[in-house]
Amino acid sequence: MKKFTTLYAGVLALGVSATAVLADGATPAPLPEAPKFDAQGQVNFVGINDILEYKALPEYKEPEFVTEYVKAGKLPPVNDRLPKEPMVYKSGNMKDGVGVYGDVMRHVIGGRPEGWNYWAGQIQGWGGIDIGLQECLTRTGPLFQVKADELAPLPNVAKSWEWSEDGKQLTMHLIEGAKWSDGDAFDADDIMYHWEFNVLDPEVNPLGNETQETFGKGSKLEKVDAYTVRWTFENAFPTQVLYSMAYPTFCPGPSHILAPQHPKNSKNTYEQYKQAFGPSYMGMPTLGAWVPVEHRPDDIVVLRRNPYFWKVDESGQQLPYLNEMHYRLSTWADRDVQAVAGTGDFSNLEQAENYVESLKKAADPASPARLEFGQRTIAYSLHFNLSGNGWGKPDERGQAVRELNRNIHFRKGVTSMLDRQRLGDSLVKGPFAAIYPGGIHPGMSFFDAGSTVYYPYSVEAAKAEFALAGLADTDGDGVLNYPNSGKNVEITMLVNADYQSDKSLAEGVVAMGEAVGLRVIPNIVAGNDREAARKAGNFDWHVWRNASEFVTAVQNTERLAPTGPSTSDWHKAPEGGEVDLLDFEKEMVDVVNKFIATKDNAERKTLMAQYQKLHTENVYTAGLTAYPGALIVNKRFANVAPGAPIFMFNWAEDNIIRERVYVPADKQQNFELYPGKLPDVPGGKGVM
Ligand code: GLA
Ligand code: CA
Repeated sequence: MKKFTTLYAGVLALGVSATAVLADGATPAPLPEAPKFDAQGQVNFVGINDILEYKALPEYKEPEFVTEYVKAGKLPPVNDRLPKEPMVYKSGNMKDGVGVYGDVMRHVIGGRPEGWNYWAGQIQGWGGIDIGLQECLTRTGPLFQVKADELAPLPNVAKSWEWSEDGKQLTMHLIEGAKWSDGDAFDADDIMYHWEFNVLDPEVNPLGNETQETFGKGSKLEKVDAYTVRWTFENAFPTQVLYSMAYPTFCPGPSHILAPQHPKNSKNTYEQYKQAFGPSYMGMPTLGAWVPVEHRPDDIVVLRRNPYFWKVDESGQQLPYLNEMHYRLSTWADRDVQAVAGTGDFSNLEQAENYVESLKKAADPASPARLEFGQRTIAYSLHFNLSGNGWGKPDERGQAVRELNRNIHFRKGVTSMLDRQRLGDSLVKGPFAAIYPGGIHPGMSFFDAGSTVYYPYSVEAAKAEFALAGLADTDGDGVLNYPNSGKNVEITMLVNADYQSDKSLAEGVVAMGEAVGLRVIPNIVAGNDREAARKAGNFDWHVWRNASEFVTAVQNTERLAPTGPSTSDWHKAPEGGEVDLLDFEKEMVDVVNKFIATKDNAERKTLMAQYQKLHTENVYTAGLTAYPGALIVNKRFANVAPGAPIFMFNWAEDNIIRERVYVPADKQQNFELYPGKLPDVPGGKGVM
């Protein structure tokens, strides 16, 4: 009887306390409506065939100084440098029409080049350097201007493709007779080299992070002939995969230069392969419009026009129009300052701390720069490292955090402790920031408010959820302790030092954690080290500026969930192991795979709504804030694609289609550092 009473009392007590705690736990609330903010740029929606085509033109032209190289016997004639059927940009889609040669686009960037081996994972400094060098099978940046009912990746290095009847094979036709910037032929061997020696080799981690799963589990690629490759998939008609063939995930490299350095063909280690083309190596062959010709550390990277570039305008002029590209090696904040002042030409205004000052300056009619706000495509999330089985080799402390991260009550506690209004206001006051619970960005085409589970800011709810996760401040020092070890919970949060917004948001998270007894220690490191740490899984939490999957849902879709061993940025498999998926992650993987497998738009909407519910209800990530960015371009440039967002399918450096941007003759400036020069041979002295 006594025993029963005790047991009964215990159950009763548990029942009561559990109810009490649950009542105070995280309870979803309707998502507050975002402040009204209209995008300023007017997009001129078109079909894909309105933008470009591939065809031979009766004659081709080049800048006069390039003809001098031809006359001197240093370069073949332009007709021989171009492919049989170059890509032709249609004048009707060029805001200011056919352009003229000359001038420079002066970029300012906060990144630093590690080297030119993009395919083995080297960072080139971001800010559009690699986007201007690499050309990929397909292209998605300019899709912001493609009509919804025609939305599909643009052809690029792959000029056309067709599906087999059963939909399991995709045959791609490459541009024929195009050449790398050093004159070497581009063909299917370059595609196959990237696939076999970089993508499929588990020791090589390309900058775009592509693995076999990026193109679908079990996907295969083979060469048919010099200009034809064929993909084989497990599913029928996975047309979605065409997005994965765009930047950054299938941009082939010059196999004639890379292959001899690969560990399978040389005595090199994988690290030596990666480092084989360091930052001082000039003339790395590209398919892009420009080629690196100078690097002065912490000062500048200069690119000159690629005389073999394979795109032309309708009058037959070989592109690009701009002879040179500058990348001043400074800070991202300085990019905004210089673009507004006119000493730089371009910026993605994305650090909200700089909005007020930049807006004020750009409002002056005499301002040298045009500033145009877009939609809310910039957002930040807090990522929980969800691997419980060893990815990133955590120590005992780290492993304990991983287990907390895998606990739904803990994640609900974290999302509830975040005062998102205050986080947004800490960056900039005004109608910019929206409450962003996580997942698909508010206002984007696949966003469904009704399927978004929003746990509002509540200190009480956060504390209650942490209690349910078993945490209590047992030693009374104000910091929550683990139930078993009795140690204080300490979480390290990876933060990019290169951006003020990342640091401001991290500061907010630390303060908000403190208010509920959670000790969060920021690990603020420079961009390149941050990238290495996150790729290796060396973090508990990570403050992250979202990639395009959460804006478009169709770009990088496979990354919305751990669909493969390394597709998710915060839940990868340990070496040789598997991803230890949580139950809701299994459901997300299933939904994402279904989304990838279907072309039916209504079904896709439903699936993405299911995904959003799973993501937000289970706090797969904790959204921090979402806000619009503004594109700043110097007013002397013509043909900047109207309404180009700073970020959507890709960054604005891709979206504005720089190879057809020009400066009218009467506005040209003498900014060229190497007028009249062309890139030298690979590994040579820069210009010749
Ligand atoms: C950095 C910048 C972005 C954009 C990209 C391009 O991430 O912050 O604005 O320029 O580089 O890769
Ligand atoms: Ca304590």
